[in-house]
Amino acid sequence: MTERIVQTIRTVPQLREEIAGRRAAGATVGFVPTMGALHAGHSALIERAASEHEVVVVSIFVNPAQFNRADDLEQYPRNEPADVKAATAAGATICFAPSVAEIYPQGFASSVQVRGPLTETLEGKERGVGHFDGMATVVTVLLNAVAPDVAYFGAKDAQQALVVRRFVTDLQIPVEIVTADTVRDANGLALSSRNARLSAGGIEQALAISAALQAAANAISDGSTDSPEAAGAAGIERLRLAGITPEYFAITDPATLEPARQLSGTLLIACAATVDGVRLIDNLTVSANREAATASC
Ligand code: PAJ
Repeated sequence: MTERIVQTIRTVPQLREEIAGRRAAGATVGFVPTMGALHAGHSALIERAASEHEVVVVSIFVNPAQFNRADDLEQYPRNEPADVKAATAAGATICFAPSVAEIYPQGFASSVQVRGPLTETLEGKERGVGHFDGMATVVTVLLNAVAPDVAYFGAKDAQQALVVRRFVTDLQIPVEIVTADTVRDANGLALSSRNARLSAGGIEQALAISAALQAAANAISDGSTDSPEAAGAAGIERLRLAGITPEYFAITDPATLEPARQLSGTLLIACAATVDGVRLIDNLTVSANREAATASC
């Protein structure tokens, strides 16, 4: 059996030319932007794109503009050959792995900024709004370079997906945004490129993050708590038992990410915590469904 070879393209003009050729032959284009260090969470996005499009572009670009700490950027895992292999296996047809100079050429002076609660809360508050400016800018450049029909993002980075939806709507970028479910390991740990930096003990401790989200979600869905604060306290207590003090553990409105005022409708529970020196984020969506809970009492 011959192995399928995926092209790795490094420049925007070459990428546009390649995609134009495939479009002329009738193909639609799905796009999965990544920073590499691909894992099963990325693969699920690529597989989804491949099930819906003839052409699947996967970008591999560690974007310096969205890192607020130089050491985090430096330590970010990089392994392009393994990434191209994983992307190919998941169904990618084109890998786009540009240099920093290709994305930010000499004289680059523009920025896409989403302002308001969406970027000022949670990750924006902890990492600084510059993180989302850097993310929004690079995703805009990549969307302009690829011009896909559909771009795929993970619910693991729920705030990122909301920010992308916001600027795509505001700037009228002609692309559909799909947000796909978080992929977890068998113990519930959300897959992340950063997990590779966790020790065995760190992985064990990190399991408390998804467990805490689940504890808060259970407290909400089984009706055993009557306020967002109490649900949050249940999660924070679960983290405390594992020796973790979260940067935030928030019960929020899934559309605005503002703190939930009451336990009703769909809620997003989001958490960030540093374990073993590695900053991890995770979230869960839960239906409060208070009427059903009350009715069953
Ligand atoms: P990266 O962290 O590599 O993630 C690429 C995509 O994979 C994002 O949409 C992210 O939400 C998704 N993803 C990561 N872990 C996942 C998991 N466990 N389950 C499902 N999806 C998961 O996010 C970025 O890169 C960058 O900010 C980027 C959008 C590429 C811009 O630089």
